[in-house]
Amino acid sequence: MYPIRKVEQLNNEVTRMEIVAPQVSAKIKPGQFIMLRIDEYGERIPLTMNDCNPDAGTVTIVFQAVGATTKRLRHLKAGDCLLDFAGPLGRPTGLEGAARVAVIGGGLGTAIAYPQAKWLYDQGAEVDVITGFRSRELIILESEIAAHSTRQIIMTDDGSNGNKGLVTEALRRRIEEGAGYDLVLAVGPLIMMKFVCLLTKEHGIRTLVSMNPLMIDGTGMCGGCRVKVDGAYRHACVDGPDFDGHLVDFDDAMSRSKLYQSFEAEAAGHECLIGRD
Ligand SMILES: Cc1cc2nc3c(=O)[nH]c(=O)nc-3n(C[C@H](O)[C@H](O)[C@H](O)COP(=O)(O)OP(=O)(O)OC[C@H]3O[C@@H](n4cnc5c(N)ncnc54)[C@H](O)[C@@H]3O)c2cc1C
Ligand code: FES
Repeated sequence: MYPIRKVEQLNNEVTRMEIVAPQVSAKIKPGQFIMLRIDEYGERIPLTMNDCNPDAGTVTIVFQAVGATTKRLRHLKAGDCLLDFAGPLGRPTGLEGAARVAVIGGGLGTAIAYPQAKWLYDQGAEVDVITGFRSRELIILESEIAAHSTRQIIMTDDGSNGNKGLVTEALRRRIEEGAGYDLVLAVGPLIMMKFVCLLTKEHGIRTLVSMNPLMIDGTGMCGGCRVKVDGAYRHACVDGPDFDGHLVDFDDAMSRSKLYQSFEAEAAGHECLIGRD
């Protein structure tokens, strides 16, 4: 069992949770993820390491309550336990050698991109973090990013933080100002990552994206997480989740991501009683 040490609401939709999992904490690297199961009735879901403290044996996850499992998870409290917390899974993000980097986070993607920004900054790289949210109330991790970046630019769709626009507009501005990035890392909605990649391709900047297709086993066996990269299907759980963004077929990924929408909507309002008294 994996005890929950701390739970914090970052906003109405997003929760930060610290889990005691010493073996995972000792090994997990930026870009890797875990698969958790709340209890024996639960589904396995993949969540990315947001932070870890090997000395304390803890791993921090940040998640958005979007469906059946994440809505249950957000109601757990410090002292409760998770049945499974398997990891580290996936490959660490290939960040070695990058010196001037733009890390782009769209919404919850900000939490997934944060450990990479932190690692790069701690290694001495110049790191601009550009994040985008629907509105000011949804902004997350502002102070954590401020402590681990050279520059933080926060965009909102409605301009409620005084900075209206898309992350791609801010990225284009920085590129045109001569930021001289040798790497862009983008994590967020598929449509956002697609447009970041179109922009960076124009400027010949190496770009990594974090793909999050539906995953079932997380170990390369079910084939559920296939992503088309450079014309061939790869498994995001073992070959990724990060890929060269200029080679990813985003249109294929977007159509695959809608395959199970009706089942997910049903599960969100359904309590499974099979096997219970
Ligand atoms: C490698 C990886 C890392 C991830 N890391 C995080 C993370 O750190 N924090 C976080 O909040 N989420 C993360 N996700 C997404 C997370 O796994 C899903 O939100 C979760 O599985 C939804 O489960 P559910 O039962 O609550 O919702 P479901 O009922 O299964 O789905 C509800 C809604 O969420 C969407 N959804 C389902 N699965 C995914 C998915 N894999 N990616 C995006 N949308 C999905 C569905 O399309 C649907 O609209 C990650 C996904 C992957 C593949
Ligand atoms: S989740 Fe099953 S192969 Fe990747």
